[in-house]
Amino acid sequence: MSKHLTFTSNISFMKKKKFLRLAIILSGSFVLLSMTIIKTNQQDPWEAPAEYQNMKNPYANFDDDERIGRILYSKYCKACHGSKGKGDGSKAKLVDTPVADFTSAAFKNQTDGSMFYKAYTGRNDMPSFERIIPDEEDLWMVINYIKDL
Ligand code: HEC
Repeated sequence: MSKHLTFTSNISFMKKKKFLRLAIILSGSFVLLSMTIIKTNQQDPWEAPAEYQNMKNPYANFDDDERIGRILYSKYCKACHGSKGKGDGSKAKLVDTPVADFTSAAFKNQTDGSMFYKAYTGRNDMPSFERIIPDEEDLWMVINYIKDL
């Protein structure tokens, strides 16, 4: 009799183990699924507030003969956005959010003020450059540079 009891409790132990394994697999897939959903959400259209969309580029016709835009781009943006702005920099694979392609129509089809806002505030893996490039004139030079990539 006692032998029989040990046998059944062994079975229920094994069942428990199986159940636990299933629970781990299920919760793992749930985490993966929710990560995918979050990732999709991050690609929501990014719209600058109207006041920035309507903001005029004060340096639209500025001749950046010191190549400030290019220098700052190489230093702060190229790693993600790539040397030609295609979003294929060496760091692009390491971030979760797809890196914007500056040569795409979707990117070009927005005002300079909208680009300025996005570089200034950042979103997801796109850093805010408010403190990194605190001089607004410098940031405009970068905007002028990425527009022509
Ligand atoms: C760490 C990687 C990284 C760096 C460095 C980086 N970016 Fe980005 N950038 C991103 C990602 C990712 C997005 C897309 C963000 C999103 O859609 O939520 C983005 C989006 C943008 C956009 C909006 C694109 C659009 O389609 O409207 C602008 C403008 C931009 N970046 C400018 C810059 C500038 C200028 C610099 C350098 C001063 C820079 N970025 C540096 C990762 C980066």
